[in-house]
Amino acid sequence: MLDKVKYLLKEIENFRSNKKEEIENKRIELLSKKGEISKLFAEFKNVPNDQKKEFGQKINELKNKALSKLNSLKEKLEENGGEINAKDLSLPSEFVKLGSRHPISIVRNEIIQNFSRLGFVISEGPEIEDDWHVFSALNFPENHPARDMQDTFFINKNPDILLRTHTSSVQVRVMQNQKPPIRTISPGRVFRNEAISARAHCIFHQVEGLYIDKNVSFADLKQTLLYFAKEMFGEKIEIRLRPSYFPFTEPSAEMDISCKICGGSGCNVCKYTGWVEILGCGMVDPNVLESNGIDNQKYTGFAFGMGIERITMLKYQIKDLRLFFENDIRFLQQFEAAI
Ligand code: DAH
Repeated sequence: MLDKVKYLLKEIENFRSNKKEEIENKRIELLSKKGEISKLFAEFKNVPNDQKKEFGQKINELKNKALSKLNSLKEKLEENGGEINAKDLSLPSEFVKLGSRHPISIVRNEIIQNFSRLGFVISEGPEIEDDWHVFSALNFPENHPARDMQDTFFINKNPDILLRTHTSSVQVRVMQNQKPPIRTISPGRVFRNEAISARAHCIFHQVEGLYIDKNVSFADLKQTLLYFAKEMFGEKIEIRLRPSYFPFTEPSAEMDISCKICGGSGCNVCKYTGWVEILGCGMVDPNVLESNGIDNQKYTGFAFGMGIERITMLKYQIKDLRLFFENDIRFLQQFEAAI
């Protein structure tokens, strides 16, 4: 009998709960008419006389302990505002911090908007491509260095499956699936086997542009790019086109804009020339039109390709390209909120 008392004493000492129902159940289990402690009181008459004193003291002690423990648990629960543990339900909720759009997304969207005002529509292609879409259909000669392992990430050799090195591959897909007039831009991720530095990364983003119709001329290309530069960098911006070479355009050019940072007087961003290169462009090579099933006697076209990172760096005066990939919240939260 005494053992039972000791057992229940331990149990009540160890009992913890912050739930009203649990505390009430414990009270019923121990202290109700048919509860364990009440039963012990009923047993009192059967206890041998010489043990009555000790037993009496113990069951009184047990009853008091159980009462005070259960009462104090109940009080605590009420102090904390009931089971849900709320302090003041009328207080305003905690401030939810909004994320911000990534600067690359902001600039990509801006580029898309500028060209869509001219009627360009978005097309997309896969990041994992074959040799045909990335090189062969774009007139790259068999031994062009871009096809080298050092520049391109290959997934498979023979047949060549690779990560696209430029978004010009989407041009090929569009030409094969659509009939002129074609007016499209293709934003996307590209991959090159480059050492990562402040100015280069093995993953970056490009926007490709393609316009094919009857009588498209170099003048159309130049006007389109001038419009884009002004929308992107402001009315005062100047552009210049330098002759260049790309296998898929003839003639080809690179476009510079007047340096926004020094206003043309010379700084380390423009390498003291007053100009910074922002894109490659040209008239689509008639061979490329033909390879992709477009009548090159009837149609001409222009194409251009730009790096989004480069334009973003110029726009926001960011000096290190690696910042775009580090996801440092201190950097990212400086840009427009994503709503
Ligand atoms: N694909 C070229 C690159 O990644 C960029 C480019 C240049 C795209 C000229 C074009 C173009 O469409 O006409 O460097």
